[in-house]
Amino acid sequence: MAGKLMRAIQYFGYGVGVAGLKHVEILVPDPKADEVLVKVEAASLNPADWKIQKGMLRPFLPSKFPTIPGTDLAGEVVRVGTGVTKFKAGDKVVAVLKHSTGGALAEYAVAKESLTVGRPSEVSAADAASLPIAGLTAHGALTLVAGIKLDERDENKNKNILVTAGSGGVGHYAVQLAKLGNMHVTATCGARNLEFVKNLGADEVLDYQTPDGAALRSPSGKKYDFVIHCASGIPWSTFEPNLSPKGKVIDLAPGPSALWTFAVKKLTFSKKQLVPYILIPKAENLEYLVKLVQEGKLKTVIDSRHPLSKGEDAWAKIMDGHATGKIIVEP
Ligand SMILES: NC(=O)c1ccc[n+]([C@@H]2O[C@H](COP(=O)([O-])OP(=O)(O)OC[C@H]3O[C@@H](n4cnc5c(N)ncnc54)[C@H](OP(=O)(O)O)[C@@H]3O)[C@@H](O)[C@H]2O)c1
Repeated sequence: MAGKLMRAIQYFGYGVGVAGLKHVEILVPDPKADEVLVKVEAASLNPADWKIQKGMLRPFLPSKFPTIPGTDLAGEVVRVGTGVTKFKAGDKVVAVLKHSTGGALAEYAVAKESLTVGRPSEVSAADAASLPIAGLTAHGALTLVAGIKLDERDENKNKNILVTAGSGGVGHYAVQLAKLGNMHVTATCGARNLEFVKNLGADEVLDYQTPDGAALRSPSGKKYDFVIHCASGIPWSTFEPNLSPKGKVIDLAPGPSALWTFAVKKLTFSKKQLVPYILIPKAENLEYLVKLVQEGKLKTVIDSRHPLSKGEDAWAKIMDGHATGKIIVEP
């Protein structure tokens, strides 16, 4: 591959959204000893991609410019680094790249062997590429923070969970995983997605633009033991009256006021808590999610697919915040 060029999308500084994206031809990257070089078949976008471009995590992310955005991809291994033992050329894989480097919106990308897993033939590239950040976040919020053991179905059957934005990338996996664990699931979404979210398995759905939906009031009067909060702009005062005595709000995008609530609830030993959660991806969990998809127990819902040549359309869509499921870019 030495000297071979590939198509990619890059941006060269913070801000400007879609207008900041440029189509470039650059050298195919060389895998380091612990990396695999993947021919990308599909990449999926996450809100973090545009938030990083906007500079919301500066000065830490991205670590350098120009940067190729995108962390989630599926494809075929074409070369492996000298220390790689688990993969060989020709293997179908799914991988999660670091936010600091990105790299998925390109024809080829390098991924750490430690964050790459095999992809069985029953799992399409687009379905697999949707899983890393969104699926792992839903899984981590449920299993690590809420402490739910998905296979202990009897133990979970009286636990109530609310998923806000059950129609989005994270939310649509969270609803399905919570149901796999046999929890009672309430989810919020827009009116157009009420049926969709019910079909994912939610027991009760709330239109967030109605008074009851905005108040997060469960139609059956249930109080929530856990909230996986995938939406934004909902204050603690709205959650508080809907929580069970030891209810926990797991906030995936906490702003200053949520962080303040987190600190106050901790310091006052409050039984009701707000817990910020940032995903640290692990290959074993990604492997678990891929297996669930393979077994037909978890499905990826695709909002839209865009060729790399029209990556701007995908970027505009993720920035818009109204996707139903995942947005895919295909080289
Ligand atoms: N902490 C972490 O490690 C981590 C990891 C992944 C994601 N996140 C964060 O988690 C959040 C969700 O990510 P995502 O990928 O699921 O986003 P997404 O796919 O862009 O979410 C879009 C969905 O949210 C719905 N929505 C928007 N506002 C809503 C509201 N007030 N109530 C109910 N539904 C609402 C939209 O429905 P309508 O179109 O009907 O409005 C749409 O279906 C983002 O802030 C993201 O940055 C954090």
